[in-house]
Amino acid sequence: MTAQIIDGKKTAQEMKAEFRDEVAKLKEKDIVPGLAVILVGEDPASQSYVTSKERDCAEVGIYSDDNRLLAETTQEELIALIEEKNNDPKINGILVQLPLPKHINESEVIFAINPEKDVDGFHPINVGKMMIGEKAFLPCTPHGVVHLLTRSNVTIEGANVVIIGRSNLVGKPLANMLIQKNKNANATVTVCHTRTKDLASHVKRADIIVAAVGRVNTVTADMVKDGAVVIDVGVNRVEDATKKRGYRLVGDVDYEAVKEKASLITPVPGGVGPMTRTMLLYNTIESAKAAAAK
Ligand code: GUN
Repeated sequence: MTAQIIDGKKTAQEMKAEFRDEVAKLKEKDIVPGLAVILVGEDPASQSYVTSKERDCAEVGIYSDDNRLLAETTQEELIALIEEKNNDPKINGILVQLPLPKHINESEVIFAINPEKDVDGFHPINVGKMMIGEKAFLPCTPHGVVHLLTRSNVTIEGANVVIIGRSNLVGKPLANMLIQKNKNANATVTVCHTRTKDLASHVKRADIIVAAVGRVNTVTADMVKDGAVVIDVGVNRVEDATKKRGYRLVGDVDYEAVKEKASLITPVPGGVGPMTRTMLLYNTIESAKAAAAK
């Protein structure tokens, strides 16, 4: 079997076109969704993510407020800026790009964001609400994975899902979302991680495999059941002298070999990445609507 490609870029474009219309309608009611993006330091990958997020905002008509801070910024200065944005009515969403420099405590920074503006869905209030199935901002990457699956008509209900990776950003929230009692979930979920014994034995049972570890070739073809759906969240740089920038991006899955066994597969780039950014726009628009309804 050769897999069909799940085109995240195309799905993201379709969703952005819907958001553009929605934002235009909100503007007729004087509602302009606003997103504050905060980046501390000069990490090139983070700079590129943040620039893309701001470009997405411009594309759909969301106001974006760019805040680039020096790597030496103190935690107190960062939290003071967050508090300013918490109190700014033009801002509906606050995104602090992670990872933060080592001298800053990430949890304390996330706790400082008003949960009603936490469009990343990282604040414990939103994490807790998600866990008990209450309405909450859902974290963008796992939410994007669920959208990709449902828009590709993959049946999640009753499926054996194996997630590789237990991060707070992807693995843990995705597991939580997929075990909820609703029609886009109801899956049987296994979460594998660095201490899992015999990873292959778990992955082989999966109807849906989600790789989110950040290590090249974590999922190889021998681990994949014929016809499985494979979602690759990994983004890894590998040296490539044929490229002008000296590297290319690959995921956690041995794509060329695995696509010969899977029924559906996401590419890297162009799979989950564009969906993460799209769900951020979705959360920002939802936040603006909620603020206007108050
Ligand atoms: N760094 C990598 N992914 C993310 C994300 O989804 N949100 C934030 N804030 N930082 C990230």
